Amino acid sequence: MKIPARVKMVEVGPRDGLQNEKKSVPTEVKVQLIDRLADAGLRVIEAGSFVSPKWVPQMADTGEVMARIDRREGVTYPVLVPNMKGLEAAIAAGATEIAGFAAATETFSQKNTNCSIAQSLDRQQSVCRAALDAGLRVRGYISVVLGCPYEGEVGPHQVAEVAQRLFDMGCYEVSLGDTVGMGTPAKTQRMIEAVSAHVPVERLGGHYHDTYGQAIANILASLELGMATFDSSVAGLGGCPYSPGATGNVASEDVLYMLDGMGIETGVDMDALLDAADFICTHLDRPTVSRAGRALGIKRRKAA
Ligand code: HMG
Ligand code: MG
Repeated sequence: MKIPARVKMVEVGPRDGLQNEKKSVPTEVKVQLIDRLADAGLRVIEAGSFVSPKWVPQMADTGEVMARIDRREGVTYPVLVPNMKGLEAAIAAGATEIAGFAAATETFSQKNTNCSIAQSLDRQQSVCRAALDAGLRVRGYISVVLGCPYEGEVGPHQVAEVAQRLFDMGCYEVSLGDTVGMGTPAKTQRMIEAVSAHVPVERLGGHYHDTYGQAIANILASLELGMATFDSSVAGLGGCPYSPGATGNVASEDVLYMLDGMGIETGVDMDALLDAADFICTHLDRPTVSRAGRALGIKRRKAA
C-alpha cells in the first residue's frame, strides 16, 4: 500500500481539547479559536458538542458558538451528538455534520454514555437515520480502540464489530479513538487490518491521544496502511472527561510538521496554525504541549 499523497486533518481542539478544561472558556475565545483554525486552512473543525451539560458543562454553549463563528465556504464544522435531543439542538444550530460516538468496551460505554454498547448503537442508529433524512452527514467515533482505562486490552475484533455497525448505519467515516493513547505502532496496524476487513481504509480515520507519546508513531504506522484522515488538536489541548489521566490528542502542529516533511499535502499553513496555538495558549495561560510548536515558536521569536 502506498502512503497517501494527501491527508485530511480533522481539527478537534475546540471540542475534544476544550471539553476537558475545568475553568469555563468564554464563548468568544472558542469562536476566535475556530475562526483562526479556519484561517490556517483546516477544512474540518469540530466546533463543540450537544451533550448533557451536566456531563460536560464546558460544551454547554455550543449553540452560541455555532451562531457566532464565521462560517467559511468549504469548511465543515461537525458537532458531537449522543441522542435525539442533541440532534435537534445540532439542527437548530445549523450544523451540516454530526459525529456520533460509541465505545469498544462495555465499561467505557457506561462511563461515557450511561448505557451498554448495544444500547448506544441502537440510539446512534435512530439518530443517524434522522440526521441523514434531514440532509446532514454523519461521522462515527469509536473510543478505546487500542486499550481501555477500565478493562485493559481490547481485541481488534471488538473494534471491527462496532465499526461495521457504524458504517452500515450510514456513517461516511469511522474515526478510531485511542482514547488513552495506549497503542503502539504494531498494535495499531493489527487493529486497522482487522477493521479494514469490514470498512474500507479510505473511510477510516485515526484519532490518537498522545498520553504515552506514541501518537505520531501510530499515525505513521496508519499511513503505511493507506489511512489518510487524522484527528488532531491544536497545541495538543485536551483529554477525555471519562478517561482519567488521558492527555490531549496528538498536537496538530506535530502532525503537520511530519506530513510537511514527508511531502504529504494537507492545505494547512504552519505559521497560521502556530498563531492559533499561541492564541489559545495565551488564553489558557499554559504553554503548548506540541514539540514542533515549541521548537518553531522559539525560532519565530528569534527571527522577529
Ligand atoms: P443520561 O443521564 O443517561 O441521560 O446521560 P438522560 O436522557 O437521562 O438525561 C439526563 C439529563 O441530561 C436530562 O436533563 C436531559 O434533558 C439532559 P434533566 O431532565 O435531568 O434536567 N440531556 C441533554 N441535554 C442537552 N443535550 C443533550 C442531552 N441529552 C440529555 N444531548 C447522555 C446520557 C448520553 C446524555 C450523557 O451520558 C452524555 O451527555 N454523555 C456525553 C459524554 C461526553 O460528551 N463525553 C465526551 C465526548 S466523547 C470523547 O471525548 C471521545 C472521542 O474524543 C473519541 C476518543 O478519544 O475516544 C469522541
Ligand atoms: Mg478524543
